[in-house]
Amino acid sequence: MISEYKKRKLRQKFLCDKSLLRKKTDLISEGKIPKNLLSNIQSASMSFIYSTIINQNKSKKLNIEQNLQGLIKYLEKNKPDNITHNGMIVPRKEISLEYNLFLKSFIDFLKYSGIFNLVDYFVSPPQLRIKFNDKNTNPNASNNIHSDAWTNHNTDKSCTLYLPIFGDVKKNYVKFFKPKENYIDINWLKFRKFDTGEDVVKNYKPVDVKYEIGKFLVSDCSTLHQSILLKNAKPRLSMDIAFIPKISFYKSKIKSHIKASKLDLIGTKEIMIFKDSINLPLKQILKKKRQSLSNRKIIKL
Ligand SMILES: [Fe+2]
Repeated sequence: MISEYKKRKLRQKFLCDKSLLRKKTDLISEGKIPKNLLSNIQSASMSFIYSTIINQNKSKKLNIEQNLQGLIKYLEKNKPDNITHNGMIVPRKEISLEYNLFLKSFIDFLKYSGIFNLVDYFVSPPQLRIKFNDKNTNPNASNNIHSDAWTNHNTDKSCTLYLPIFGDVKKNYVKFFKPKENYIDINWLKFRKFDTGEDVVKNYKPVDVKYEIGKFLVSDCSTLHQSILLKNAKPRLSMDIAFIPKISFYKSKIKSHIKASKLDLIGTKEIMIFKDSINLPLKQILKKKRQSLSNRKIIKL
């Protein structure tokens, strides 16, 4: 029988053969994002963040510099309620339009790279993430060495795409690890909290893969990784999007998972609307025992 490692290596090779990705290691690939596509994502991120701030401070007079640097500075001091402990900026009803423009800029990039056609499901609607220089003590904080398969809204069938967008990626970046031997035990990918991974981590070693603006990476979910914050690190904007490639032949029943084909026309002929208001605290949404993004619908324009 084909080993778990070999299976994943072949899947990664398939992604490289069919897209602009190039192999870095057996389970990590890399590509370049053209300046104009990155700039579209940066502009759309700016509108999305700006609308988040405006909608949460309707009664306040705001004096913010309208560029990414200025907006990020504001967020550092005034964290909106729709930012999770890991820095996900969760789309809500009032900021749906700006979210859709942001999503379209990302889908345009995925189509250019050839990756969009290889995606069966996204594990959740692609999200923007802001990583601050803060001590995050949550057991699932990304500064623990972890696999993205360790959450219950993911599966061991996924890959993750990492796209740094803006900010201090020299001091605030993602570090990657690969198996010491060309071997993976499927049990290493079972659900667990990110701070309980020692018995898996001991089978891995760091790998020389650079996390830089202008590039993107795709890794198999068995690739362990960790957010690194060096001294005086400033925030970074990035995306890390888990997806299930078509080659996995997997029928997902997880509610937050979304068929890639459903996102094909987003921002042109269709729009994704989120039902929860920006005024509803994240805690209340989580109390209802649902993932913060699952309350949504797609409407045709
Ligand atoms: Fe992760």
